[in-house]
Amino acid sequence: MPGFIAHVKSRVRRILLGQATSRGIDLSQLSKVPDSLTWPLRRDGVDPVARLAEVRAHEPVNLLTSFLGLNIWLVTGEAETKSVLADNSSYSNDIRPFVGSRGSATDGDIGGLGFTDPPDHTRLRKLLTPEFTMRRLERLRPRIAEIIEQQLDVVEAAGPVVDLVSTFAFPVPFQVICELLGLPMEDRERFRELGSARFDVTYGGTGTLGAVSASRMFLMEATRKQRTDPGDGLIGQIIREHGDEIDDFDLAGLADGVFTGGLETTASMLALGTAVLLRDPAGFAQVGRDEGRVDAVVEELLRYLSVVQIAFPRFAREGMTLFGKKVSAGDVVVCSLSGANRDTRSGGVMDQFDPSRTPRPNLAFGHGFHRCVGAELARMELRMAYPALARRFPGMRLASDELSTRQLSIVFGVDELPVRVG
Ligand code: HEM
Repeated sequence: MPGFIAHVKSRVRRILLGQATSRGIDLSQLSKVPDSLTWPLRRDGVDPVARLAEVRAHEPVNLLTSFLGLNIWLVTGEAETKSVLADNSSYSNDIRPFVGSRGSATDGDIGGLGFTDPPDHTRLRKLLTPEFTMRRLERLRPRIAEIIEQQLDVVEAAGPVVDLVSTFAFPVPFQVICELLGLPMEDRERFRELGSARFDVTYGGTGTLGAVSASRMFLMEATRKQRTDPGDGLIGQIIREHGDEIDDFDLAGLADGVFTGGLETTASMLALGTAVLLRDPAGFAQVGRDEGRVDAVVEELLRYLSVVQIAFPRFAREGMTLFGKKVSAGDVVVCSLSGANRDTRSGGVMDQFDPSRTPRPNLAFGHGFHRCVGAELARMELRMAYPALARRFPGMRLASDELSTRQLSIVFGVDELPVRVG
């Protein structure tokens, strides 16, 4: 009997956590997961549903759902979220023991970092971080500026009414990541096709984050080529400096994780951020003129939109009391970044987008050990792209009052954004 119960629990965990396969987590089942679990991902326009704020006000750590002894906790408070995300001795990020999935922790699969604990996490992350220092990122700045200008030309040529997602919000971060990884120009079109095949399924909330094999194989090939002739980008740098510490499969996995982590997130910020700025056309035009305010506007958009709605799930290593709640070993703790970023307990009206707000640290990039590696790159892109868009098209307007936002997706976004370039 205990064996049977364990089996049923494991099945339930699989359903509740999405389907974990040996290649990663398949979130395509998200639409089949009960609403009692997924409602915190829902939005009302660009705002999280009101229920999230109600739950936060009464229970910043709340039992989201419980079934056969498996508890899933929802953390919506800012201080509570920081405390969970900073604590990797009480929690594990490693999903495999909980879903019974096989596979090496070091195989660099999707979420290789996000679903990995030290020492593997420390080892893999250490390889990546030098590529994201401000000094290395500064070298990308002129190329990012060129990429933005090229895409602005595409937008202009496609006008007067144009979809900003396919012409700007998606191609800009796509090309920036190719540049960062150091993929040769001639390979990019093929990679884009692989990327958009995956992107098509992840877009719309029916994504299969597990379906990475084609782009992974492509990156394996790129890595293999660079072993003999390392390029200037991230792949070449890691080969030059740490080539004997990592094999092609792991390195391709790391590069693929960067691609997955950086593309959809930045594309969503560019599209939705522009949509929010365009609600106030004069304010939008101002972004192009007042460089001094851009950093603050970008921080406010990151906070307000919180496009990555939840952090990677944390699994309690042992029983504990979490802000008054009794958490058992193996319980899943899900931190709602969209909830925490609108916590009003530290003062202020957080439900509104206020471009004049004095920025203070927010949780859009997470917190602690798994905090986003690409945060500074993302900031750099956003700080360059919004003003460039506003300078080129100061008269831009939304072409429709309706935003076709994704209904149920960990990365919140829009499938298209029709604008009138003016
Ligand atoms: C606006 C754009 C972005 C947002 C909002 C964002 C947000 C996040 C969040 C919330 C996490 C998880 C934190 C946690 O669970 O504690 C994360 C992790 C990660 N992000 Fe980003 N991200 C963005 C852009 C990027 C870019 C541009 C890259 C790389 C080019 C990137 C690479 C990663 C990686 C590799 C991780 C895993 C880190 C780890 O587990 O140690 N992200 N990101």
